[in-house]
Amino acid sequence: MEIKKVGVIGCGTMGAGIVQVCAQSGYQVVVSEINDELLNKGLALINSVLTKSVDKGKISQQDKDSTLARIKGTTNTKDFSDCDLTIEVAIENMDLKKRIFAELDKICPSHTILATNTSSLSVTDMAMATKRPDKVLGLHFFNPVPVMKLMEIVKPITTSDETYEKGKAFGESVGKTIVTVQDTPGFIVNRLLTPIILNAIRMLEAGVASREDIDTAITLGLNHPMGPLALADLVGVDVVLFIANTIYDEFKDPQYAVPTLMKKMVVAGWLGRKVGKGFYEYK
Ligand code: CAA
Repeated sequence: MEIKKVGVIGCGTMGAGIVQVCAQSGYQVVVSEINDELLNKGLALINSVLTKSVDKGKISQQDKDSTLARIKGTTNTKDFSDCDLTIEVAIENMDLKKRIFAELDKICPSHTILATNTSSLSVTDMAMATKRPDKVLGLHFFNPVPVMKLMEIVKPITTSDETYEKGKAFGESVGKTIVTVQDTPGFIVNRLLTPIILNAIRMLEAGVASREDIDTAITLGLNHPMGPLALADLVGVDVVLFIANTIYDEFKDPQYAVPTLMKKMVVAGWLGRKVGKGFYEYK
């Protein structure tokens, strides 16, 4: 069945970005949060990004209005009952994700594809919380979602080829280039990115260079859009730590062992841009 309506579970930074690109690509979207406050915050974020696009002349006021008209916010999971595809973008907690998948499995019609945007957790575990593991896969977007052109499709051994093909067609329809990866911790991007960020933190910790010089070296020396410490702040220091621990748990590879400075920063609440302080300070 053709995908017409998309359900997004979670409207934080990533969820809001996913809702925006789906609605801008013509899909009807229903998005849920755990309470009205978080829902309104997420919807306001989408509104403000679209307003900036109008101000810059990238889209018309009419485009903005029609995009917003395709988005419906809810705090009731039952509103996913007529979705053709759902994308789970909840916090990275496997028990929570399994509960969400089990609930969606009961609520959604049998044709619905159930996807996760997890950055490193096992998609197979989520699939096995449902009675339709053949219709479960990972659709991994990157931050900021409206800007980043990549989508990793995570294909567990349980996913059918038909589901994979539909996921791929969907990803392309929202303007993303697809790479396909097995269900292994960190997939492609985070498995390669995490050691770079952790090594940058180890260098900072050892006093090899300042935070600015480490980041400048990578932006100007390797032409990355931002340095690894600034990128950790963008992604969330706690999120990078979680990803590193998930990959380490599986492979026991010391390159994924979290540096002490990073652990202390997370304990201190220096989580990056979202709280105004990480490796750098933000207004
Ligand atoms: N939402 C929508 N658009 C955004 C945005 C956001 N949150 N942030 C920036 N943009 C847009 C801006 O509007 C601007 O658009 P125009 O050029 O059309 O005006 C464009 O992006 C560039 O933004 P800025 O000029 O403000 O700033 P910049 O040139 O420094 O770019 C950046 C900012 C796009 C974030 C860039 O620095 C970049 O690409 N950084 C790397 C991001 C990255 O690596 N992301 C992947 C993280 S890993 C991940 O997400 C996986 C995971 O599982 C953790």
